Amino acid sequence: MQEIIQKLQEKRDEARQGGGKRRVDSQHSKGKLTARERIGVFLDPGSFDEWDMFVGHRCTDFGMGEHVVPGDGVVTGHGTVNGRLVFVFSQDFTVFGGSLSEANAEKICKVMDHALKVGAPLVGLNDSGGARIQEGVASLAGYAEVFQRNVMASGVIPQISMIMGPCAGGAVYSPAITDFIFMVRDTSYMFVTGPDVVKTVTHEEVTHEELGGASTHTGTSGVADRAFDNDMEALLYLRRFIDFLPANNREKPPIHETPDPWDRVEMSLDSLIPDNPNKPYEMKELITKVVDEGDFFEIQPDYAANIVVGFGRIEGQTVGIVANQPMVLAGCLDISSSIKGARFVRFCDCFNIPIITLVDVPGFMPGTTQEYGGIIKHGAKLLFAFAEATVPKITIITRKAYGGAYDVMSSKHLRGDLNFAWPSAEIAVMGPKGAVEIIFRKDIGDDEKIEQRTDEYRQRFANPFVAGHRGYIDDVVMPHNTRMRIAGGLRMLRNKKLDNPWKKHANIPL
Ligand code: HXC
Repeated sequence: MQEIIQKLQEKRDEARQGGGKRRVDSQHSKGKLTARERIGVFLDPGSFDEWDMFVGHRCTDFGMGEHVVPGDGVVTGHGTVNGRLVFVFSQDFTVFGGSLSEANAEKICKVMDHALKVGAPLVGLNDSGGARIQEGVASLAGYAEVFQRNVMASGVIPQISMIMGPCAGGAVYSPAITDFIFMVRDTSYMFVTGPDVVKTVTHEEVTHEELGGASTHTGTSGVADRAFDNDMEALLYLRRFIDFLPANNREKPPIHETPDPWDRVEMSLDSLIPDNPNKPYEMKELITKVVDEGDFFEIQPDYAANIVVGFGRIEGQTVGIVANQPMVLAGCLDISSSIKGARFVRFCDCFNIPIITLVDVPGFMPGTTQEYGGIIKHGAKLLFAFAEATVPKITIITRKAYGGAYDVMSSKHLRGDLNFAWPSAEIAVMGPKGAVEIIFRKDIGDDEKIEQRTDEYRQRFANPFVAGHRGYIDDVVMPHNTRMRIAGGLRMLRNKKLDNPWKKHANIPL
């Protein structure tokens, strides 16, 4: 027996060496952790149960029969994060560049199937050169099996991808289907095809970083949700992030006890809105002053910054926050911000996370760039997402709510449960100047008359009371009481039940 135990130990040791010392050293020299080290940081100490450590690939082409590494380039299993069950796969770049073989795909599929079966989040730590080239179509089939499971799990369990190395081909399409993609700065890349292929096909010369680095995807393409400075920071943030989420679509997110009083008054909010309606202010100040202990986990902070989305908590309960940002493009809605907002709203709706919408929006961005880019279709995504969402929805209009954007931003008419306005709210079809120039066009040129008309319009519409008169606004609330009003509203809505009509699925304008 002792001999057998010894043999098992040797086999485990062999698997733990991955692609060998030289490749592990190379991984470390780039500032990257190995697949197992990453799992060690991410999961609670000692909680990891590894599966399929002895699986090897079956390829014999290109001399592959001589190179079978136990585990075959991916470490899979389950463990806990702050005591909550999580399934994980971590690609091992030291073994054939973390590339996906048939056997390696089967390992990933196994944890995906279990995550779905028991209703627990799935986390992928991605570091892979894509389909294993030596295996040809078998590895492509493996990817398709993973994609199919990603799609089936979408909206059922949270799926999160952390990109921790160069990811190419299929290695980016699975993350693309997951709910959130995070990256590590300077060591992670995502592209469908790398710079060499790009040069051959389009004659463009581009570096790895420019083509698919963290700043490209968090700032320009919007493919990734956030970037971190190194593996360690990324994995610790990932632990924090998971804490905001429920295990699956039938559960609510965990409650985090907080010493922050639900009725905390924030007097400084009374002076947040500048006297000049054209002056911007920092919407994130409102967010951090309202959520528990100022803890706000922002999603896509560097992309479409005219809308702010992210997670916080009120009375320990996770909420999704969607807010126009007056500091960027005056907070208007454009193509990118509509898509960003819509995707976030839909995630919250899938996973029982109430949505708090903070509105200061002058309207949709006009112009040919937006029209040619399809703002009609893309803006409709945000409208669609808010309209179909059945989770508790609380809206606060802090200042402008003009035109179609008033409707879109979780208005009463889109089944907003509680729609509040600050006394500074201006709810109208458009701003005073634009309105007067249209309805009193004949007076243009007579500055005195135009000014008088503009003043009249402002008096009549630049306030919350016209909407309040019709019941479109449930109450006008003092800014300093915002947290208390939201917390009270969430208590009232705790058992909200609302179902959409039966359908196979909706047809959101994609
Ligand atoms: C097999 C691979 C591999 C792959 C890398 N390796 N990618 N082995 N299949 N796809 C191996 C290398 O041979 C090398 O082995 C080791 O991993 C490290 O690779 P390097 O190139 O030395 O590392 P680096 O310079 O950091 O470059 C990493 C890389 C590059 C950018 C990922 O390797 C690369 O471009 N790989 C190919 C990417 C690709 O085109 N994949 C196929 C996509 S098609 P040794 O033995 O030297 O350590 C696809 C189809 C799916 O995925 C379709 C879905 C829709």
